[in-house]
Amino acid sequence: MSAQTALPTLQGKHIVLGVSGGIAAYKSALLARLLKKAGADIKVVMTQGAHAFITPLTFQALTGNSVHDTLLDADAEAGMGHIELARWADLVVIAPATANVIARLANGHADDLLTTICLASPAPKYLAPAMNQQMWSNPIVRANTERLETFGWSLLGPDDGEQACGDVGSGRMLEPETIVERLLSSTSSPAERASRSGISGISGKKVVITAGPTREALDPVRYLSNYSSGKMGYALAAAAYAAGASVTLISGPVQLEPPTGITVVNVTSAEQMLDAARSESSDADIFIAAAAVADFRPQQVAEHKIKKGGDSTASLELVKNPDIVATIAGEYASLFCVGFAAETQSLLENASSKLTRKKLDMIVANQVGEGLAFDQDSNAVTLLWQDAQQTLQQRAFPMQSKHQLARQLLDAIFAHYQTQ
Ligand code: PMT
Repeated sequence: MSAQTALPTLQGKHIVLGVSGGIAAYKSALLARLLKKAGADIKVVMTQGAHAFITPLTFQALTGNSVHDTLLDADAEAGMGHIELARWADLVVIAPATANVIARLANGHADDLLTTICLASPAPKYLAPAMNQQMWSNPIVRANTERLETFGWSLLGPDDGEQACGDVGSGRMLEPETIVERLLSSTSSPAERASRSGISGISGKKVVITAGPTREALDPVRYLSNYSSGKMGYALAAAAYAAGASVTLISGPVQLEPPTGITVVNVTSAEQMLDAARSESSDADIFIAAAAVADFRPQQVAEHKIKKGGDSTASLELVKNPDIVATIAGEYASLFCVGFAAETQSLLENASSKLTRKKLDMIVANQVGEGLAFDQDSNAVTLLWQDAQQTLQQRAFPMQSKHQLARQLLDAIFAHYQTQ
């Protein structure tokens, strides 16, 4: 199917777009326009602070609806009052959400129209934080945001980068295009996502993906690990979800925001990753092992911090970790298993030997080392598999962003999966 068959899945959706007072409020004008273009009917609710950054007239012109900003206004209540607005909403999206509005929402305040609507509306609620990076990293703001998440709010961003105040860091409002993409993704059915993605045949299937490194404890403060950032695995998870799959991501410790709509199981060690993989695989259709699992772990985990002592050398006794993807491929014969092979030499030879030794359906050969693959935003790989005559087949994917690569790899993986 082609990308032109994109369904305007926000068609007819009633969206209350809350705009609070931050410099990113100017981006909300574009957001309103894009949401309308995606088929939604939008009613903008502005806080008092938002008026300092953008005028109601802008939103009125863009949405074709009058803008709401007053709680205790007899005229407004006689038209569409706060309870009607709360009931009318299919979605509530607050963008930008300042630290102040997040704090008021997290504490159940109903001291203006926007916070009152949020309390009175049963609709799914989304928050796009926007503030200075120091404010965003403040534990009070983080605790307020996490509190809202525990009450079912979904977080959209924030993004990293240069800020209006000149700081660089996390706290920028997500770009309007990304917000719309995330809303489309989280409100659409598997079939709609599949249709939009252009990748077919995976709608409704369960895909389990491992990502990131594992950490193998040495003592209470040290561990063995590797440079995996999780970017490849997370990009695969986002692309699989966008293609209509139900996705479980088993993630080692990484600094990434989980993609919208997927289930994340956080683990630390290889043994925990294996336990999670076993319990998630019983009803799965496809298993993709993108994690960089530590092959060994310390035989003993010291109860207390290991002391330096007087010797100039020290040795460590290691034991082999279980091979997760080989175990899963062995235990779940009908599961379609795809591995990655991270190699510093004899790439295709070593990768094809892992394909057969681990009894995988496909393997992604990955040249690593010297600044390649690990913790990079882009990568180039070769996909290997055996055809029906047991002849080795290969397809090379050129250097590109891991997100683009993930989409292309999944297209090829799903196509092969369907021939099995
Ligand atoms: O996370 P990023 O920074 O984006 O980097 C991505 C990546 C380079 C980590 C990823 O693309 C990748 O290549 N992952 C596999 C890394 C690896 O450990 O390769 P390997 O050749 O050692 O292992 C082969 C396969 O067996 C892999 O699918 C691995 O997940 C799996 N394995 C390995 C050891 C083990 N004990 N259990 C496993 O399941």
